[in-house]
Amino acid sequence: MIQVQDLTKRYGTTVAVSSVSFEVRKGEVLGFLGPNGAGKTTTMRVITGFLPPSSGKVTVAGHDVAEQPLEAKRHTGYLPENPPVYTDMRVAEYLAFAGRIKGVPRRELRNRVREVSEKCAIADVQRRQIGKLSKGYRQRVGLAQAMIHNPDVLVLDEPTAGLDPKQIIETREMIRSLAGQHTVVLSTHILPEVAKTCDRVVVINAGNVVAEGTPQELTERLQGFETVLVTAEGPEGEIKAKLERVEGVTLVDQRDIANGRVTFEVHADKQKDVRGDLARAVVESQWRLLELRTSGLSLEDIFLKLTTRDVSEEAPAN
Ligand SMILES: Nc1ncnc2c1ncn2[C@@H]1O[C@H](COP(=O)(O)OP(=O)(O)OP(=O)(O)O)[C@@H](O)[C@H]1O
Ligand SMILES: [Mg+2]
Repeated sequence: MIQVQDLTKRYGTTVAVSSVSFEVRKGEVLGFLGPNGAGKTTTMRVITGFLPPSSGKVTVAGHDVAEQPLEAKRHTGYLPENPPVYTDMRVAEYLAFAGRIKGVPRRELRNRVREVSEKCAIADVQRRQIGKLSKGYRQRVGLAQAMIHNPDVLVLDEPTAGLDPKQIIETREMIRSLAGQHTVVLSTHILPEVAKTCDRVVVINAGNVVAEGTPQELTERLQGFETVLVTAEGPEGEIKAKLERVEGVTLVDQRDIANGRVTFEVHADKQKDVRGDLARAVVESQWRLLELRTSGLSLEDIFLKLTTRDVSEEAPAN
């Protein structure tokens, strides 16, 4: 539904986005994840036709955003990072206004306003002035505005930024409910967001795509090793030595010791399930095994790995 091919965007001498390629399939929710300054907003502004690319090609629903901007825009709804605020307008009035700009036929306008207001849970504030709404409600008005012409594609730049935890959950649910009917690409620098809301993730750092996949695939790909936490009661040095001799184990790190109970972090080859052998090693030596569990990398760890790796690799080698 969206194809981004070799997109580069420069601001003067700054390369904000460098040769980025990815696609968003029909009906999926794609998360565009990256730290501040990664190039998320820039990419989204090119996709929505607000910014011309320096090079590369972007198509939305088969229309080149540079060559057929009107057709592409007809298929796209955009919630910008800082939505323009028409603070004096009332909600219903503003949505009708947005609809007219986007070419919604006059006779359908009232119905469209009602529909998006219900979807975005703002039916109860239709007559309120936008400037007097809370941030969360204003964000919903922004989302409703993006959907007013019933576009196939929704581009949402940090849709949950600045919301309270309850509003974040509501917004995520709303976005999930749009999947299938709409193709959604949303940007965020918050990890749990993509795990909870997105079918697939593109991770961007310093203008480059550094990873792509489902949240689960990313986790699996990056786990070069499996980590097992072993807690036992006994002489820590001996236990450590014994665990190190288990086949497939690559590293044993003492994590914690209290009241004679010691916890080790054991790294092993990815393909090997060493848990049974670890348990046997402890029990055979008559030490008490108190706990044994795997501890995968959290998405947080992965994100940090991905977004700090490039920086260190790019450090001048002198
Ligand atoms: N109008 C502009 N002129 C010059 N440089 C810009 C402009 N807009 C963005 N940049 C630069 O381009 C890079 C990418 O910015 P962008 O806003 O796309 O990042 P982002 O991923 O959206 O970040 P954030 O999470 O902070 O919103 C940054 O280095 C930024 O300073
Ligand atoms: Mg941004």
